Parts: sequence; structure tokens; C-alpha cells
Amino acid sequence: MKDYHEPVDEMQPEDRNYVRALASLKEEIEAVDWYQQRVATCTDPQLKAILAHNRDEEIEHACMTLEWLRRNMPGWDEELRTYLFTSGDITALEEGEGVEEVEVEKSAVDESPAAAGLGLGGMKG
Ligand SMILES: [Fe+2]
Ligand SMILES: [Fe+2]
Repeated sequence: MKDYHEPVDEMQPEDRNYVRALASLKEEIEAVDWYQQRVATCTDPQLKAILAHNRDEEIEHACMTLEWLRRNMPGWDEELRTYLFTSGDITALEEGEGVEEVEVEKSAVDESPAAAGLGLGGMKG
């Protein structure tokens, strides 16, 4: 099947469900793109309205699939919580997260007996 790039029999059932969901998400987003292009160029007002309705339904389908991924596939929940429904500079959100990670790493070093033996406790800012 064209969706697989690795041996299917080496995949667990949940992995195959991830493939199904990711393929569906790609298809729904592709459909949004196609409908949006048709809406942008359609010269008949009634047809344009139908195409816009269809585009919006594809957006709904994409969001439903994305929510399934958030609930089921590792990684999505954390990233969506970082980026969705925020405002301002989107790239700054990742930088902010990076600062937190550095602080966590520093405190882990501070509390590590091995780190104390290496004199790294002095790194505590
Ligand atoms: Fe509809
Ligand atoms: Fe759809």
C-alpha cells in the first residue's frame, strides 16, 4: 500500500492507525487547498458558495483528524499546546520553550551527586 515506507508487518496496530490518521490529515488539507483555489477563481456566485461550503467542511475534517492525533499519537499534544490559540510572534514561542529547557537542565545538574563531584554545582546561577 502506498502509505507505507517501512515493512507493514513490523508495525504495531497503533502505528498503522497513525499512518491512517496522518494520510487522512494530508488528504483533508490537500482538499482544503484545492477548494480554496477553486473558490478564489470561480466566476459563478452560487458555485463559488458551494465550493466555499465544501472547503469549510474539509477544514472541519482536518481538525477532527488533528484532534485524534493529539489524543493518540505522542508529540502532538505538547506542540499543539505550545502553538495553538496564542498571539504574537510564533517563532518566539519555541525560543521561550528553549529557555525553560535550559533552566531544567541546569537544575538537574545542580542536584546531581555526580555533578557535585565534578564541581558543577557551582554552575547554579
Ligand atoms: Fe456539507
Ligand atoms: Fe474531507
